[in-house]
Amino acid sequence: MDFKLLEQEALSILNKEELIIDQRMELVCQLLQEKVAHYDWVGFYFKNGEKPELKLSAYAGEPTEHTIIPFGKGICGQVAESNQNFVVPDVQAQDNYISCNINVKSEVVIPLFVNGENIGQIDIDSNTANAFNEADERFLEKINAAVADILMRNKA
Ligand code: SME
Repeated sequence: MDFKLLEQEALSILNKEELIIDQRMELVCQLLQEKVAHYDWVGFYFKNGEKPELKLSAYAGEPTEHTIIPFGKGICGQVAESNQNFVVPDVQAQDNYISCNINVKSEVVIPLFVNGENIGQIDIDSNTANAFNEADERFLEKINAAVADILMRNKA
């Protein structure tokens, strides 16, 4: 997988001024889900206003009923509190895990920071066990940084 090329494609989508931010995010989710064989579900969760919970924003893959996740619950809710990447090689081995789809075997969640504040995350599910490594982490950190940049620029 050529993550460098994919990063460029994601950047060019994020810079499409003619699209609203939500559309750009959705296209990025679709791009990653289509181009990376082990990315079966790709989504962004963001802090829901002042509430201690995450709300699903753009995603690609099967719809999930878990559109709201309280802080501390599941892999996503834990990352909202820890501010750390969470790589899960085997979701069945996790006590604090929320299942969105029975086919999912592994997961990675990477926090998204704006001005040092953890405002959300990218969440990837894979139907392959132990699918994620450090290359995925570095790639997804770059995607999140690019999204943070666009969000900041559009706030100003
Ligand atoms: N598995 C996540 C829930 C989100 S779904 O993967 C889309 C979790 O444990 O937080």
